[in-house]
Amino acid sequence: MKENSLLSVANLSVNFGGLNALSDVFLQVNANEVVGLIGPNGAGKTTLFNAISGLVKPSQGTIALHGEKISWPEPHQLSKLAIARTLQGVGLFAGLTVLENVMMGADRHRSSHFFRDIAGLSSRDEARLRERGMQALAWTGAHTFADKFPDQLTYPDSKRVALARALVLEPALLLLDEPAAGLGHDDIEKLATLIKQIKSKCAVLVVEHHVDFVSKISDRVYVLNFGKVISSGTFGEVKLNPEVISAYLGASNDSGTSSLGGK
Ligand SMILES: Nc1ncnc2c1ncn2[C@@H]1O[C@H](COP(=O)(O)OP(=O)(O)OP(=O)(O)O)[C@@H](O)[C@H]1O
Ligand SMILES: [Mg+2]
Repeated sequence: MKENSLLSVANLSVNFGGLNALSDVFLQVNANEVVGLIGPNGAGKTTLFNAISGLVKPSQGTIALHGEKISWPEPHQLSKLAIARTLQGVGLFAGLTVLENVMMGADRHRSSHFFRDIAGLSSRDEARLRERGMQALAWTGAHTFADKFPDQLTYPDSKRVALARALVLEPALLLLDEPAAGLGHDDIEKLATLIKQIKSKCAVLVVEHHVDFVSKISDRVYVLNFGKVISSGTFGEVKLNPEVISAYLGASNDSGTSSLGGK
């Protein structure tokens, strides 16, 4: 394991019944690095995020953070490990305002008792939490609709809120599952700029089908196919790998972004 390794996944396998969703996966993310995770639909990308997040139990392997093995935390313990994630899709709470959704993400030590603790917070603590929530929203360009509810937002705006909710935790590792899905060109460009800025604060592991986007933001890329890492390296390196090319050419990718034409 490298000295500066933040996340280290080794020998990881996940089975669903007879299906090997992940087989013997090795992956490393270093501090202040953006790592792309690409591969055709069903390759196991979200399953890897779920394993890191404690949502699915691996059948073998280890996941270590800062060199310390994590024994698949309960999902609500994730924030204690300073890991934040966004979901494939959006996943905001419909009954909470945008700001409340983001404040939920901020509560690193009390996230499982959010409402009780909000009720018990001193006004100064609550003001601080609100301020952090507003800062995260401002940072992703979503502060102007802090008091709206998720169903009043456009899809790109709700993705911004979901990103703010993950960032407000000030994570050491941010897991982004298809952050660019459903966004137009301009929003994807803005997101790429944001992620490059985030990098100075935390490491990012990003699953994405938009390979142009991945090529722009990632320091290194891992390619999964049928649960196995078939290639890793810089985007320029992996896109030349024949196994990667055939995995992509053989894939019918519903996002229409399966070509490996990225720079
Ligand atoms: N909870 C589950 N139970 C059974 N099978 C599952 C479960 N979650 C995922 N799978 C299967 O595991 C495989 C990997 O799925 P996963 O969602 O990780 O792929 P993915 O790479 O994220 O795909 P996509 O790009 O479409 O999001 C697929 O065959 C999927 O059907
Ligand atoms: Mg997925």
